[in-house]
Parts: sequence; C-alpha cells; structure tokens
Amino acid sequence: MPVITCIDDLKRLHKARTPKMFYDYAESGSWTEQTFRENTTDFAQIRLRQKVAVDMTNRSTRTTMIGQDIAMPVALAPVGLTGMQHADGEILAARAAARFGVPFTLSTMSICSIEDVAAHSPAPFWFQLYVMRDEDFVRRLIERAKAANCSALVLTLDLQILGQRHKDLKNGLSAPPKLTPATIADLATRWRWGLGMLGTKRRFFGNIVGHAKGVADASSLSSWTAEQFDPQLDWGKIAKLKEMWGGKLILKGILDADDARKAAEVGADAIVVSNHGGRQLDGALSSIRMLPQIVDAVGDRVEIHLDSGIRSGQDVLKALALGARSTYIGRAFLHGLGAMGEAGVTAALEVIRKELDVSMALCGERDAHNLGRHNLLIPEGFF
Ligand code: FNR
Repeated sequence: MPVITCIDDLKRLHKARTPKMFYDYAESGSWTEQTFRENTTDFAQIRLRQKVAVDMTNRSTRTTMIGQDIAMPVALAPVGLTGMQHADGEILAARAAARFGVPFTLSTMSICSIEDVAAHSPAPFWFQLYVMRDEDFVRRLIERAKAANCSALVLTLDLQILGQRHKDLKNGLSAPPKLTPATIADLATRWRWGLGMLGTKRRFFGNIVGHAKGVADASSLSSWTAEQFDPQLDWGKIAKLKEMWGGKLILKGILDADDARKAAEVGADAIVVSNHGGRQLDGALSSIRMLPQIVDAVGDRVEIHLDSGIRSGQDVLKALALGARSTYIGRAFLHGLGAMGEAGVTAALEVIRKELDVSMALCGERDAHNLGRHNLLIPEGFF
C-alpha cells in the first residue's frame, strides 16, 4: 500500500494506472488551458496568516450544505465518465463520500446510472442535470432522481455547448476505448483497469440510454452536445425546472455577479461559483478571484459554494475565508479513484480534512464557521 500524503501522490498513481485517454480527459482544460492553470495558481497567490498562542483544542470542520449536515465543507463534484477512471467509479465514489459524511453528486454523463448508484450507496446523493432539448427526457431524468431519493438537484448552466479540449480529440477519447495499436499498447500496461472493466455489470452511460447514440467519442461529443443540449436554456426555463423538481436546487457554473443575482431571484438554495474546472470558457477568471464580488452581490440571500482548482485543505480554507459556505472537488477525488478505487477517494478526503484541520489550527481557528478575511494575506490588486 503506497504512503499517500497529498493529492499529488494520488495524481501520480492515477496517471500510472489509468489509460492515457481517461487520465488526460480528467487532467485537461479547454483550448490554451489558461483558466485551468490559473484556477490553481490563483489559490497559491493567496497566503495564510499564521497565529500563535491561541487555544486550538476542540476543533471542528463540520458544517452544513443546503441544510444537510456534513463532516467537512467539501462535496464531490459531478464528473462525467467517472466510471471510466475505474470500473464502477460512480458507485465507489458515492460509497466513499457517504462513509466519510460528505455529499456525492452524480453527473448526467455518468457511466453508472442513477439506479445503479442508489442501489449500492448507503446514503442519498445529489443528481446533476444537463438540460436537454427533449423536455420529456428531462422530466423522466428528474423523476428518476426523485425515485432514487436524491436530496438535491444540481443544475449545470455553463455547458450548453462544449469547450474544446485538444487532448481528447488527439487521443481519440471514446467510452469504451476503441481498440487501436496505440490504445492496445496503453491498455497492456494497465491490465488491472481492463480486468475491472471486464468484470463490471453496468450499462455504459446509464442515465442517457436512448439518447447516447453518438456520444461515445470526443470528435462526436461536441456535435452530440450541440444536438442534445438545450441552447435556449434561460432563467424562465430554470424556474420551471425548479418547480418540476420541487426540492433543494443548486445552480452550478455562476461566475458573474449579475447572474448570481438572477439565481437568487429564481429562488436557488445555493449557487456554485465555478468555471467547470477550466474546461469551458478559456480566458475566464478563476473562481476564487470572482468569489468576493459574488459574495458581495448575493451572500445574504443564497448559499454560496465554490469549485475549480481545489487541491488541498488549505485551498478549502481560503475559499471559506473569502465567503464560500462550502466547496467541491473534481480532479482531487478523480485522482484518488483512478489511483486506488474507493480507498483512493477516501484517502483524498482524508488528506484534505487533515490539511484543513491543521491549517485552521495554525491560523488560530477552531471552527470552520469563524474563518474570514482576517485569516488571509492577499496581494494588492488581486481582486
Ligand atoms: C467535470 N465537471 C462536470 N460538471 C458537471 O456539472 N457535469 C459533468 O458531467 C462534469 N464532468 C466533468 C468531467 C471531468 C473529467 C472534470 C474534471 C470535471 C466539472 C466539475 O463538476 C467541477 O466543476 C470541476 O471539476 C471543479 O474543478 P476541479 O476541482 O477539478 O479543479
């Protein structure tokens, strides 16, 4: 069992153990990848203020997201094709999250279906919806999520059309992988991954069966998305979907204060300040840089979550100190999953909790709710 001390350890193992096309799918951004890179380098520019001789006993990272009790302010973000990083990936990640006590969000574009995950996960999870043109299909997806007891709907707003990711096109990304000399050579060194896949009983793209034709490879994914996803999604439609769902609603992909105000007006329970992990609008600013203006605009009306660029507990601390209630991790948990399956996702969560807990203590804080700008040193002109 390798010694895991940080997310980078998991990332190295993920790269070694998972077919190149799926590792690259996870570890890439759109076009020049500027936004993808800045999501992490911007976190690094914000520094923490050390405090000493402060009582650091009885610390707690517990909090709530949309009223649900959680072990620490981190949820697992919705990630398409999670089940290609490791066989049954969505089920394993949902289990690890449930046992740890944080939310898991199942993507519309998952490999395992809503029903597969519900049958094998010990706790309710959240469902992420991409809005399709076919309204009946959207209605059925929402009904399936309700029937599976999903306790929140995460509506993603920043991918009605796909940002281009060069690596996926160059690798010929497809699920399952098409057998070419290059993929066969690659798979030969990742035989454990292949054995797992051969053993799985799941039907691929379990949520969109019937609409999945043409989705299997990257060169067609962009035209498939353009065909299937609703390019006319607007605030009126979002309000209708809220009514159709009738439960807790989280709007994901907000990066602008005016959009945040509209999200609050429509009655969202929470918003996720996010640029989709740098996979959509290349050139957009990092989520952490946009966070304060969104907190100023709607922080008193709607719960604010943040993702994009979180690789450590120190990053979580910074996001909370700037006004986020909680955060999500995408790649950080994928690295764990690709490295070691369920144990790897648990390891990722443990690494982040420890970093958050110890860093809070060294900042003189005992409770995640007390974090604020007083904990940070921010370069002049940063925001
Ligand atoms: C994503 N993300 C995403 N978001 C979503 O709403 N539905 C989806 O199906 C996907 N798919 C997806 C695949 C992969 C491989 C990645 C890396 C990301 C975005 C995801 O929910 C989240 O916003 C980012 O991953 C956050 O950034 P970090 O934590 O990965 O830096």
